[in-house]
Amino acid sequence: MDLKAHIRGVPDFPKPGILFYDICTLLRDGPAFRAAMTQLADMVRPYKPTMLAGIESRGFVLAAPLALELGLGFILLRKPRKLPGATIGYNYALEYGTDRLEIQADAVKKGDRVVLLDDLLATGGTMSAGIKLLKEAGAEVPLAAGLIELTFLNGRARLDAPFQALVSYD
Ligand code: PRP
Ligand code: MG
Repeated sequence: MDLKAHIRGVPDFPKPGILFYDICTLLRDGPAFRAAMTQLADMVRPYKPTMLAGIESRGFVLAAPLALELGLGFILLRKPRKLPGATIGYNYALEYGTDRLEIQADAVKKGDRVVLLDDLLATGGTMSAGIKLLKEAGAEVPLAAGLIELTFLNGRARLDAPFQALVSYD
């Protein structure tokens, strides 16, 4: 399955000069969504994760079904003030704006190998924050993964973990 054929490029969103890669068109197509899950599972399985984590909000759409597919538990990395109980947070710069991610302080057990999923790697600020949070919470992060990598932004250079994506744009 050619996943790129199902990803729509939207010019000038959310602001002029940005070409936005929209996964909604892929998610709307059952066989394409299924193929993306199968390909992500094949990519992630060799890293032998004990849990998966996903980044709010588009990362959740991929990470939760992938955790189910792999028979693993799922950790939510959320935007600020959404998670109850003790949390660890990290501020980061986004491709457009700034944001903060939080994880529940007790989400990870010692020795957990957590693969982190997001839909797209652009500058790498979001994924880098997620990796830092997981490590601070006590996890090993054998892989960070996405559906899409914008290689021209070289976001992977900012990451403290190996990174793989199913499709890339340069
Ligand atoms: C987008 C995208 C990634 C991030 C990538 O999320 O889903 O999470 O930006 O950018 P970066 O590599 O430059 O950090 P966004 O914050 O727009 O929110 P959403 O997932 O809730 O739509
Ligand atoms: Mg996102």
